[in-house]
Amino acid sequence: KQILAAELPDTELIVVSNREPYVHEHGPGGVELKVPASGLVSALEPITRTCAGTWIAHGGGSADRETADANDHVMVPPDAPAYTLRRVWLSEEEYKGYYLGFANEGLWPLCHIAFERPIFRAADWECYQAVNRKFADAVVQEAKTKRPIVLVQDYHFALLPRLVREQLPEAIIITFWHIPWPNSEVFSVCPWREQILDGMLGSSILGFHIQLHCNNFIESVDRFLESRVDREGAAISYGGRTTLVHSYPISIEWPEQTTPRRRTSAWARRRVLERFNLRPDVKLAVGVERLDYTKGILDRFHAMDEFFQQHSDWIGRLVFLQIAAPSRSSLPAYQALYQECQTLVEEINARYGSEGYQPIVLIPEHHDQHELSDLYRAADLCVVSSLHDGMNLVAKEFVAARDDEAGVLVLSAFAGASRELLEAIIVNPFDASGMGEAFYQALTMPIEEQRMRMRRLREVVRSNNVYRWAGSMLMDAARLRQREQFRELG
Ligand code: G6P
Repeated sequence: KQILAAELPDTELIVVSNREPYVHEHGPGGVELKVPASGLVSALEPITRTCAGTWIAHGGGSADRETADANDHVMVPPDAPAYTLRRVWLSEEEYKGYYLGFANEGLWPLCHIAFERPIFRAADWECYQAVNRKFADAVVQEAKTKRPIVLVQDYHFALLPRLVREQLPEAIIITFWHIPWPNSEVFSVCPWREQILDGMLGSSILGFHIQLHCNNFIESVDRFLESRVDREGAAISYGGRTTLVHSYPISIEWPEQTTPRRRTSAWARRRVLERFNLRPDVKLAVGVERLDYTKGILDRFHAMDEFFQQHSDWIGRLVFLQIAAPSRSSLPAYQALYQECQTLVEEINARYGSEGYQPIVLIPEHHDQHELSDLYRAADLCVVSSLHDGMNLVAKEFVAARDDEAGVLVLSAFAGASRELLEAIIVNPFDASGMGEAFYQALTMPIEEQRMRMRRLREVVRSNNVYRWAGSMLMDAARLRQREQFRELG
């Protein structure tokens, strides 16, 4: 934290993302404040709170307009204001074309190689360009100096770095791509691939979670743009400027010791069992995600099926609690997934359930961080079976919550987190019977081994926390600025 604050004194920080960190909604009790389910928000929020500055995001809450001032600003967090949230308003058409369309039906499946065919419509692309211009104008309006540091977040804003660069040529623009980058062959199906790459290369630094995604990006640029690629120096020269392409594995804020003493894991377990009406002797597996087809939710249910077939003595003794926060639910692919999940859960529950026992409990609702922390602490195992994921912060949140050093993490080999969390049980989510065996291994793992693994996992997450993530990007930015200043001096 201190390094972060000290490294770039007097530097103006501007964060840009689609999703806002605080949403105001009209609820039954008046205006309610919500923190959305987004890995990006959980990672960036503590950083912006520490560094202050301005966060520009789409104002999508039903009470967002009335809670912002005449400049569309609101100071957040509301209980201890630390930075300015600048809301950008989108029309219905912009929201559909840019967010639902190009970003979430085009780039999202494209980058995740999720076996969900990406949809590219020219009209969506028009909206995407227009909204990127709108946000670039907001950055320029908000910038008080000629050389701010602009942190551009994610696949909603591939064109923004170039657009900001045109108007603020001396800005340090750090773009972080929170989702995977596919290989160049897969990327080549995007009809506007050159424009996307050109837009991103307006950045000074381009960050991905893991080296593989950097390599894939560099390979895409090499194939589709007239550029010079320095693989060893991890730099791309293009149009007279250089962009550094680095991996920065994102993380979470390590929780401070604020959990009251009485909230032990045993306490959390009792609470969760009571809330869901479960028998006290069952083992608990938990999954926590947005209801998204990249997360492998159906696949873990198939693995449960396999597990019960192979280990029928576990029927009646294991419950899988799946939290699935509704997400992008106006898109057909997400509606279809919801239906499929419900049908599969009904099938499995009919096959293995009995009076007072349902093996899978599906809760399609958003939960806040405290409720999730209780769930993590109550669980015997946590399953993260993404088919493909940039990093996956649920895996890290689970580890951080387990101060009792118990519990087992079952983690997909295709989540970026598997490169760091080596003591998890690593699985292939496409292999249902293999994943079923991993559940068995987790459920029968001796407590000493659980502790050994969890201790090591906790060391990794504690030291590679989100401040280190932001710190290394900002330190690279500081070095870059120094180099530019030396160059200017001649
Ligand atoms: C992923 C994306 C984020 C996004 C989050 C939630 O983590 O990388 O950019 O905010 O999912 O999705 P949503 O569409 O609800 O913002």
